Order: sequence, then C-alpha cells, then structure tokens
Amino acid sequence: MSERYVVAIDQGTTSTRCIVFDRRGRLHAVAQQEHHQYYPRPGWVEHDAVEIWQHVRRTAAAALTSAGITLDQVAALGITNQRETTVLWDRHTGRPVARAIVWQDTRTDELVNALAATPGAESVPKRSGLPLATYFSAPRIRWLLDHTPGLRERAARGDVLFGTMETWLIWNLTGGLHVTDVTNASRTLLMDLRSLSWDDELLSFFGIPRAMLPEIRPSVGLLGTATEVFTGVPIAAALGDQQAALFGQTCFTPGEAKCTYGTGSFLLLHTGLEPVASTHGLLSTVAYQIDGAPPAYALEGSIAVTGSLVQWFRDQLGLITTAPEIETLARTVTDNGGCYIVPAFSGLYAPHWRSSARGVIVGLTSYITKGHLARAVLEATGWQTREVVDAMNADSGLALSTLKVDGGMTSDNLLMQFVADVLDVPVVRPMVVETVSLGAAYAAGLAVGYWPDLAALRDLWHRAGQWLPDMDPALRTTEYANWQRAVAHTFDWIQ
Ligand code: G3P
Repeated sequence: MSERYVVAIDQGTTSTRCIVFDRRGRLHAVAQQEHHQYYPRPGWVEHDAVEIWQHVRRTAAAALTSAGITLDQVAALGITNQRETTVLWDRHTGRPVARAIVWQDTRTDELVNALAATPGAESVPKRSGLPLATYFSAPRIRWLLDHTPGLRERAARGDVLFGTMETWLIWNLTGGLHVTDVTNASRTLLMDLRSLSWDDELLSFFGIPRAMLPEIRPSVGLLGTATEVFTGVPIAAALGDQQAALFGQTCFTPGEAKCTYGTGSFLLLHTGLEPVASTHGLLSTVAYQIDGAPPAYALEGSIAVTGSLVQWFRDQLGLITTAPEIETLARTVTDNGGCYIVPAFSGLYAPHWRSSARGVIVGLTSYITKGHLARAVLEATGWQTREVVDAMNADSGLALSTLKVDGGMTSDNLLMQFVADVLDVPVVRPMVVETVSLGAAYAAGLAVGYWPDLAALRDLWHRAGQWLPDMDPALRTTEYANWQRAVAHTFDWIQ
C-alpha cells in the first residue's frame, strides 16, 4: 500500500501555506502564496476572504503535485489560521458582505472605549479570559453590524454568518458546514472560557445575534469531510495558529512554553486543565481540546508587531530589499547607538493593552545610521519578549527556564542571541520551524490514529539550534530601563 501523509493548511496574516507531512513529522512538500494587504485608512487592515479561499485551492493543488501524491494518500487535513480576523458572509450566496477585518485593525478603538464605560464591562475578562481590546473579534462584528445597513436584521435571521478564517475555509471546503474550534472561539470575546460555549451575557453586551455564530467544536477531532479541493478527506483538526505552534512544539505539559516569531510574536505557556486569570496583562486562552477529553488552557503574551516591523522597514522605509538583510545591516554596527524603536502600530498589546499607544523612535542624533535603526528594529522584538516573560513569571510564580522558539524570524541569529541575552535563559529551536503547520498536522493525524498518542508526537521533537545568554547583567538592566522609558513615550498619543 502506498505511503500516507497528513496535510496542513496554514492560513496566516500574510500568506496561505499548504504543507504535506510524513509519518516522521518531516516536511514532504510545501506551497505558499501571499495575499493582498488592504490599508484603506490609517489603522485599518483588511483581507479579501475570496482571494484567500482561492489561494487555499491553488496551494493545495501545488503541494499535492509537488509531493507526487493523490487524495487517497491523505490520511487527514488539519487547518490552522490567523486568529481574530473577522469575516461575515451571506449564507445563501457564500459571498462575504465586506472585506475581512484583520486582527491588527484598530478601527474599533472608539467603540471599545465606549463599551468599556458600559455596565457589564467589568465581567468581560472574567467570562472570556480576555481584556476588552480592539484585538479580538466581537468589536469587529459589532462594527460591521453598525456600519452596514440592514445587516443586523439579516444576521438575526441567520442569513449572515460570522467566522474566523478556519470557519470560512471549512464552510468552503465542505459546502456549508458552519463550525469553529475552541481555540479560535476563545479569541472572540464571546465564549465562556470554562463552559466553552457562547455566553448570552457577552452576546448581549456586544449586541451580537447568536444566529450568526458557528457551532463550537473540540480542536482535535473530526469536524467534517471535505467535498471541495480535498474531496473525501476528513478535516480532523482546527486550531488558531499560535495554539497550533504550541501543539507542534509538543508543549503538552503544564509549565512548557513556546514563542512563535512571525508577523507578530506570541508566547504561550501551558497552564493545565483550569484557566489561570492573569493579573499582569496576559490573556487566558484555550490551548487545545482533544475530542472526549477536557480542554488544556494557556496563558498568552501577544505582541502585535515584530516581523511586521521588519516588513515596514523594508517596504515603507526601503532601507533593505529583503527581510533577511536586516541582520546584515544590523551587524554593520556594534550596538543601537542609543536608539530605540517601539512599534506600537496597533496600539500596544501584552502586557500593556493600550489601544491609543502609537509607535516612537527615540534617541535620534546625527550619529545614528541605518545600521543602528536595523539593530533597534531587532531589539524591539527582544525587549517585547522580555516584557511578556516578566509578566508570565509574575503570573505563574515560576521563572521560565528555557524558551522554545519557532517561526520565520528564528533564522535571524543576531535576534535569537539577543532574545537569549535579554531573557537570560537558553533559547532552543526545533528541527522543523514550520511549527504552526506541524501542530495542525499533528492534531489531525492524532485524531484519525495516524499517530497513536501525544508521547509519539513528543518523540518527533528534535533540537536543531540553541542560543545561550551572554550579556553583561549591568548592561541588560540599563538597556531594559531605556526600553521601558521609550515605551512610556508611546502611551496615550491619541487623546
Ligand atoms: O492573533 C493573531 C495571530 O494568530 C497571527 O499570527 O502568524 O498569522 O501573524 P500570524
């Protein structure tokens, strides 16, 4: 009998990937396509959900062709996605009613401030595990309902549906199944974190009709069978991309943590079978749920802008032509020359949660070169990681002893060394850095018995790189204090 594989679709913020994995968790074939980013106004970020669905079709065909396999060799399909990005579509035509509003979009800033002053606001974090912020889906749904004539009535009748990207893709792959998973639902502000069901009080607080919401399912387990593109293949897992990375890094035990360095960066700590309420600016979220088992929870430090700062440096400032050049440019100098960049492009996320913060560059003198700026760009990612690790240590009462990393930015050695230096702990990278896709594949493969259990997945994790801390402690302290002063300059820029 011919070899079988598991396929993952990773629908991310900048691109869509389809990756074929073999039984040893090795990447067998990959296809990727970037989609258009729409910035119609300052602070607005949109995607075309139809374009993204077309990219799923194309990358799937390309990956299967490149792997040289047929659909009967695909044991299962796992889906992972950019979280919180909100799409509404017409149930009858399948057409989106507007472009998807992306997780980085801050148009709901005023709405969120108004909601924060409304009775009931104080119970939102208790029920959902999340602060009331522009980052999550509910304010976006509300904004669309408020700004599109007749939409609220159609939504209340169930004629207009809501989904995050996995819901939109499963709907299209199955010809109309309207489902989400617990990890994605836990990012909407609408789900009760303990009961894992839509919460009537939260729905009424945000003014969102229940009829438009998908059914919430476990992340690991049969969601449906594809009737398009992967016809006949079981869709056996769906997870938000950061939770998928936690799964791909095989962080199955409380106390294990990973940080994925992509467009933004997201540090998740497995906290066990009970949600832990953060008192230091972290999110409480669902890590994963295997069908038939209780959910596992995580604390998350979400950083909105890390890799996207490098893209900004490349595309908007034009100081480099490819993202990896940032390391070469940063190495032309030995330090930041006194310059700090705080990229509060979407406000500041964890641990600050300041929607009105805006980015700053401080410490400019005529001495500063583009090399110093490049260094400040990379250091911004290191210091933002330090801030969330401090919050995590304070919340958990434990000191992180090692950090597992993955994602595109981990190929930057200067950055990874800097992260180890500012955290003062070893940083380790696994063999497969496509950990988001790998996690979705692991979850889907586990659900259909392709892999027998979590222990078998753990055996597939192999270390490929390690960076050990090597920074003078006094310098670390001074530089961190400088960073924190720079951060203070971003607060409340918008009055
Ligand atoms: O919460 C947003 C996150 O899921 C986006 O991840 O990797 O697509 O930037 P990424």
